[in-house]
Amino acid sequence: MKFFIDTANLDQIREAQNLGVLDGVTTNPSLMAKEGITGRNNILKHYVDICNIVDGDVSAEVIATDYEGMIKEGEELAELHPQIVVKVPMIKEGIKAIKYFSDRGIKTNCTLVFSAGQALLAAKAGATYVSPFIGRLDDISTDGLNLISEIRLIYDNYGFETQILAASVRHTMHVIECAKLGSDVMTGPLSSIEGLLNHPLTDIGLAKFLADYKKGN
Ligand code: G3P
Repeated sequence: MKFFIDTANLDQIREAQNLGVLDGVTTNPSLMAKEGITGRNNILKHYVDICNIVDGDVSAEVIATDYEGMIKEGEELAELHPQIVVKVPMIKEGIKAIKYFSDRGIKTNCTLVFSAGQALLAAKAGATYVSPFIGRLDDISTDGLNLISEIRLIYDNYGFETQILAASVRHTMHVIECAKLGSDVMTGPLSSIEGLLNHPLTDIGLAKFLADYKKGN
């Protein structure tokens, strides 16, 4: 499973990249705003800065919601850097735009996916990635991880190449469950990745090894 980090914070992206396990970055307008990145030019520059830190795909979201607007913005984003993936919302015009980009070899990430039917449509349109938001489903007492299983089953039934990108991952158990269910990618905060490191027996064991070494040296 690929690890993406879901942030526009350059320090956190650098930290995840330095860990050596980062495969890409996802952003959205809310994450950009959180970092105080506003204005079209600053936002575009920030995407390039992110691409220069990581080796993998970087999702950059269109703001337009009409077909022509999404095509114009998406083409501009795709030209910024070869690592850019155009992130398009799961709406009717978005599906048309994904088909347009897919026909031209431009990578896409279909975002705001909350049902298996939406994921099926995204795959039919040729999306590179589909982003089911598992945390937001959990927030409303719906099983987000179950959606990952449903999409995995449907995609495997027909050999769709669209990659399942589990989004709105909130914590480390989400990461582990996504891996068990066969998600292709997960995107979450740095803490969800770093949480995988932790086990008290590792800390206890290491402390003992070091103490025993000191006794003999
Ligand atoms: O990748 C989607 C993500 O940014 C949404 O996460 O935590 O706002 O539901 P969250």
